[in-house]
Amino acid sequence: MVTVLGLSMLAMAGWALAGVPAGKEVIAINLIGGDKSPVTFQHAKHVAEHKGVGGKAIVCKDCHHTLKTDTGEGETVATCSTCHVKDGEAQKTIDGKPVALLATMKAGKPEINSIIFHKKCKDGCHKDLKAEGKAITGCKTCHTK
Ligand code: HEC
Ligand code: HEC
Ligand code: HEC
Repeated sequence: MVTVLGLSMLAMAGWALAGVPAGKEVIAINLIGGDKSPVTFQHAKHVAEHKGVGGKAIVCKDCHHTLKTDTGEGETVATCSTCHVKDGEAQKTIDGKPVALLATMKAGKPEINSIIFHKKCKDGCHKDLKAEGKAITGCKTCHTK
């Protein structure tokens, strides 16, 4: 039966493409605040199109690093700021260790190397991809100004 087969193939395609939550395909990251622009983060594209080192598919756990499985199936995927809070807010402690702040502020400005997104994204995966000829660590890759 062509129709049934067609439907089940559609269902399978839907399953295979299951990715970031609907409505969260693009996320404006504006948690820290400051002179630099907020970052328009291509959440869905990072999973569906972008590739990591060696052409490896990027999975949820690559960023949502506390997940038990690659896709976080059956787990709650918390936002980064659930654990990494702003400087000045009560710092979270997990397993007896203080969790890094979103950024450490100095004289009202975030210290550039303390920004967790810089550590994880810019100085993490983006920098690793330099070896493959991708120039994606410049400020304008992520900030419009
Ligand atoms: C891979 C992406 C990426 C790159 C490359 C990057 N940033 Fe960021 N940066 C972010 C993200 C995400 C934030 C968090 C934005 C927020 O929460 O407001 C951020 C925040 C900041 C902030 C603090 C927030 C603000 O609006 O002032 C500053 C300052 C900053 N970046 C400067 C830079 C500079 C300078 C460069 C280039 C040397 C750079 N960034 C490159 C992703 C990036
Ligand atoms: C390249 C990094 C990256 C990948 C891969 C990624 N995410 Fe995210 N995700 C983020 C960032 C950054 C945020 C924003 C966090 C914040 O606001 O603190 C986010 C937010 C979320 C949120 C919270 C949305 C909200 O506002 O409540 C959920 C749920 C989520 N992601 C699920 C997923 C799932 C499921 C996958 C895998 C299919 C995935 N993410 C893959 C980086 C990523
Ligand atoms: C359930 C809590 C939790 C969530 C959610 C979470 N983290 Fe973390 N994160 C931790 C813990 C615990 C550590 C280890 C302690 C530390 O180094 O701060 C850590 C460490 C880090 C570090 C290393 C910090 C350093 O100074 O070396 C980065 C970068 C980071 N997380 C980024 C992220 C990003 C980006 C997200 C969201 C996509 C995220 N985390 C979501 C708990 C969390």
